[in-house]
Amino acid sequence: MDKLLIRGGSSLNGEIYASGAKNSALPILASSLLADSPMTVSNLPHLNDVTTMLELLGSMGVEVMLNDEMEVQVDTSSIKNLNARYELVKTMRASILVLGPMLAKFQQATVALPGGCAIGSRPVNLHIDAMRTLGAEIDIEDGNIKANVKGRLKGAKITFDPVSVTATENVIMASCLAEGITTIENAAKEPEVVDLAKCLIKMGANIEGAGTDIIKIEGVENLEGAFFGVMPDRVEVGTYLTAVAMTGGRVKIKSAKPEYLTSVISKLELSGAEIEIGNDWVEISMNKEKPTATSLTTGPYPSFPTDMQAQFVSLNAIAEGNSTVTETVFENRFMHVQEIARMGGNITLKGNTAVIEGISKLKGAPVMATDLRASASLVLAGLVADGDTTIDRIYHIDRGYERIEEKLKMLGADIERIS
Ligand code: UD1
Repeated sequence: MDKLLIRGGSSLNGEIYASGAKNSALPILASSLLADSPMTVSNLPHLNDVTTMLELLGSMGVEVMLNDEMEVQVDTSSIKNLNARYELVKTMRASILVLGPMLAKFQQATVALPGGCAIGSRPVNLHIDAMRTLGAEIDIEDGNIKANVKGRLKGAKITFDPVSVTATENVIMASCLAEGITTIENAAKEPEVVDLAKCLIKMGANIEGAGTDIIKIEGVENLEGAFFGVMPDRVEVGTYLTAVAMTGGRVKIKSAKPEYLTSVISKLELSGAEIEIGNDWVEISMNKEKPTATSLTTGPYPSFPTDMQAQFVSLNAIAEGNSTVTETVFENRFMHVQEIARMGGNITLKGNTAVIEGISKLKGAPVMATDLRASASLVLAGLVADGDTTIDRIYHIDRGYERIEEKLKMLGADIERIS
């Protein structure tokens, strides 16, 4: 199994490009199920989760063609079975995103229930309840969500509690082809929801309010395929910016959308980094020897993203001063804390808060990646640690970071993939 070997101590300097956003690519690929004609998606990141979504579509008989630019053409006219099997769903919970489109377009769907995962129980009750509200009959049988609807889904009012990103996306997709108007209250405001809505509007959907907490969708009779480029990955960009705030140096990230990173950028500025932004680029310089500790609490967009929490635990572990990092979105998203502690980090967990005392140096150690963002935090810790860090189980990183070791190497890090 591949590992990453990092020899800490190099500052990061240079320029890289942001990849396409995983969390936008996945619902957009799922939305191709709604189209009557082929759909082309560009700027797809080369990631295991994207491959899993393409495999999932392929396993249903959908024709998927990939060109050299990672543009994917998806043609659902050849679809044969409306079944998202457990073997694929268990490797990626976002597979649940095919439920809404399949129901809306084909009036039936079987989707394996995703199990628990490393960051908490992560139920899918909101997705199921919402599809029922739109008129679907749903049974849970043999570990599968079995759903069908007689005729079209019916527009309805759906209020989410708690706010959920993929459930909002599932309902938007389902209600695009429903009869009448659907109103989503307490909708997720994440930029990836807006990107999906833009794509669906290009396909012929009638959606208002994406990016606010009330989204209104008026169902149409059919949608056509469109050409759509996925937005840049704000979590990837945030991760590299945080790396530079820890290692020192100066890095420009192109093809980024800094407007989606306001909460992260303001925390990085508080930590002592200087940040300049343009429409589609962001540049960070860190001239201080160490970042200043910055406390934070995660929350739904536009609050500080839970997907950047682990990286900031690493930053605070080597910062000047003490801090607290409070996680409010997921119940158990602190698996990285024990691993950072193996590298010498002084972190105590109190409920959903990590209390962090900044230390002068982490020490390289063998550590284990436990989930996607936790893995990223270990890479950052390795970049500033004394000596060698080997990170095991990096398949987690490959789910969400495109060519991470190549991008970091280009910036001057001493990092390699070993087996
Ligand atoms: C998405 C992102 C993930 C990010 C998360 C929060 C994708 C593919 N993944 O995940 O990277 O960390 O948003 O920003 O876009 N919940 C329920 N019942 C449900 C669904 C969710 O109780 O049916 C709870 C969850 O357990 C969690 C909270 O709602 O506590 C928010 O989760 P949610 O926004 O649904 O996360 P995902 O959409 O799975």
